[in-house]
Amino acid sequence: MPQETLTNKTIFSGIQPSGILHIGNYLGAIRQWIKLQQDNTTIFCIVDEHAITVPYDPKTLPDRVLDVAAAYIAAGIDPEKSIVFVQSNVAAHTELAWLLSTIAPYGQMSRMTQFKDKSKKLSSKDAISLALFSYPVLMAADILLYGTQVVPVGEDQKQHIELTRDIAEKFNSQFGETFILPEPYIPTDSARIMSLTDPAKKMSKSDAEKSYIALTDAPDVIRKKIAGAVTDTEAIFSFKKSGPAVKNLLAIYKAFSDKTEEEIEKQFDDATYKDFKSALAETVITTLEPFQKKYNEIRSEDTELRLILGKGGHRAQGIANAKLHEVKIKMGLV
Ligand code: AMP
Ligand code: TRP
Repeated sequence: MPQETLTNKTIFSGIQPSGILHIGNYLGAIRQWIKLQQDNTTIFCIVDEHAITVPYDPKTLPDRVLDVAAAYIAAGIDPEKSIVFVQSNVAAHTELAWLLSTIAPYGQMSRMTQFKDKSKKLSSKDAISLALFSYPVLMAADILLYGTQVVPVGEDQKQHIELTRDIAEKFNSQFGETFILPEPYIPTDSARIMSLTDPAKKMSKSDAEKSYIALTDAPDVIRKKIAGAVTDTEAIFSFKKSGPAVKNLLAIYKAFSDKTEEEIEKQFDDATYKDFKSALAETVITTLEPFQKKYNEIRSEDTELRLILGKGGHRAQGIANAKLHEVKIKMGLV
């Protein structure tokens, strides 16, 4: 789906609390959420049960959950307008996931690229959990419980949404009309922000720190990471002709500066990498400054955050439990 304006839709998305959020998460996902929140019904989840499908630290998980909640709100999610909640607070997600797994197509599931990528990083076949394999079914449950029409995510999630549609379609034809088929909503320019150290890989919080810009990075850290970002051999600043490394930096500059491609190409016509990188760093720093100020305020006020999540969980339960009940009736379980 292109970047058209949406109104009166039910929108659901989520992020895993598996580390600090980076500008890829912001440009690929959260930035769209803020825009969509105005004229739609929006539900934003912190998907902690997805985060435990790979090795993690149970001691720090509660803090990572609050980090993501604080990031949502600091970025502009308004908990009065949107439902913000933690996945594990709504038991219907795991229950529906089991029910859907009875019809999930094993062959198609085996082709999920995120599963392949994540399992490659684990040491042996037995280090790969069954939950990592069934992860997309839990994601389908997240989406389908809320009558979701649109799922704003980065490009990497498209395959999971296609699977969600296929599962919903199969359920509807087997058990009767129950689920709405969701559509992905993927940004045109920043669907896939690449690593600063390897432009062939997407920016990811599970890679080395210098490969991504965290939303909470201090100005000096941002300057250093951008100065160290790989470039191409020739210094051309063109959205069409530059190599992959510079194209990625240009995409980041465009997203943060809100300038047009023509303006940017003209601005850096005779520039050196040093000029361009310092302009890019300052633009990223200035844009992130208000976010960071708000993040620090909210994150230090745990009580307020917990209250928001408690209320969000309660609202989510109401919607999710009703849908789960309907599913159980259809499947002959009630
Ligand atoms: P994750 O961190 O995998 O939970 O991803 C959360 C959201 O950010 C999803 O919508 C992803 O598609 C999006 N996302 C993650 N990494 C990137 C990236 N490098 N570029 C654009 N979007 C991304
Ligand atoms: N799988 C998504 C990711 O890695 C996170 C996610 C889980 C999600 N459930 C979701 C995204 C439901 C959108 C809707 O980014």
